[in-house]
Amino acid sequence: MTLSPYYTHGDGRESAFTVTPPKIKFGPGSLREVGHDAKALGMSRVALYTDKTVAQLECVSTVKQALSDANIDVAVFDEVEVEPTDKSFKAGIEFAKSGNFDGFFSVGGGSSMDTAKAADLYTSHPPDEFLDYVNAPIGNAKPVPGPLKPHIACPTTFGTASECTAVAIFDLLEMEVKTGISNAHLRPSLGVLDPDTLASLPGPVIAANGFDVFTHACESYTAVPYTSRDKPADLTARPVYQGANPYSDLSTLEAIRLIGANLVEAVKQPGATEFREKLMFAGMLAGIGFGNSGVHIPHAMAYAVAGLVRDYYPQGWKSNHPMVPHGTSVIVNAPAAFRFTGPACPERHFTAAEAMGANTAGADIADGGNLLADRIVDMMRETDLPNGISGVGYSEEDIPNLVKGTLPQQRLLVMSPAQVGEAELTQLFKDAMRYW
Ligand SMILES: [Fe+2]
Repeated sequence: MTLSPYYTHGDGRESAFTVTPPKIKFGPGSLREVGHDAKALGMSRVALYTDKTVAQLECVSTVKQALSDANIDVAVFDEVEVEPTDKSFKAGIEFAKSGNFDGFFSVGGGSSMDTAKAADLYTSHPPDEFLDYVNAPIGNAKPVPGPLKPHIACPTTFGTASECTAVAIFDLLEMEVKTGISNAHLRPSLGVLDPDTLASLPGPVIAANGFDVFTHACESYTAVPYTSRDKPADLTARPVYQGANPYSDLSTLEAIRLIGANLVEAVKQPGATEFREKLMFAGMLAGIGFGNSGVHIPHAMAYAVAGLVRDYYPQGWKSNHPMVPHGTSVIVNAPAAFRFTGPACPERHFTAAEAMGANTAGADIADGGNLLADRIVDMMRETDLPNGISGVGYSEEDIPNLVKGTLPQQRLLVMSPAQVGEAELTQLFKDAMRYW
């Protein structure tokens, strides 16, 4: 008997999944305790990574005060770029080399956390060349020889879940591609999630991040089952992204339920205290899920949607250059993607639609993908999200380039429950053009 009919065992196929839960402290006021946490991890002199905007906020002074109260030296690197590049990663690494640090802190969004992960890795285990640890085929994907120095990650937003994950994402400038480093040792030693840090998030940011949480959860829940992969001959080669499994299912379904029940109201009432814990907790749960399982088509398409932007300036972001916020670049693909993947595992899509709050009374399980897509579209309209990829500036002529920008994301595309190649992606971008 398997745990669910979705996980059937077969000869030569993977029969084990691993659980590597992140270490988390969660709750209002948690940031004030980080001096204690740093001491417990043996830190005495830390490098703190943040960006210029977050550096001005109260959360950074709270962390610095807590560290100094615990007699821990801190040096601040505030030059994290919002979409980090190999150049900004290298600047962060140089800073780490210069200070004889025995621990790392990151305060901010995914960019700050990912830069600190890279700085920690490249100084704890210096490689021969920068690309050694970067994911293949772009980099050499060399294994990390052992644990890194301790890193405490303090997100000041919700959604990226970088505090839970074992990856660091960046743009490799010379090849104009987004890539990353993916290794279990990159997972921070502790994530400190203080919902009070969400107090000043504007509605459009809550909307985009909330949909990022939803897609992390829903793509993980509908990803190929871990039992569908071949069992690796070399057991150390088990991938970080294992496919859906009974452990990730627990956290992802609850994350979908929390987003379905709270996101629309939270966007309409930015600053309302009652939603902060729910959103941050949903983000954490989805992070645990996708850090253990993996995401697929909507995130793969998002690399191209964000990367090829020409003239879209999102409302609610202080950006002086065109950009599609990450959560927006993912959700604009999601209704088309889930209609496409629905028939591959309809009961999973049906359950996700139910968790998201769709009215499924009398509905047919076979229609799970459409029910889910319809519910997402309704919520996008209620939260003022762009109407598909045309809403962020793309037209039919852009589709070949969008497809070209998505195909290299094989690491994600292989997690889709339905096979997807050039022809399918072309149709998916057509279907994602507009939804209402
Ligand atoms: Fe995401």
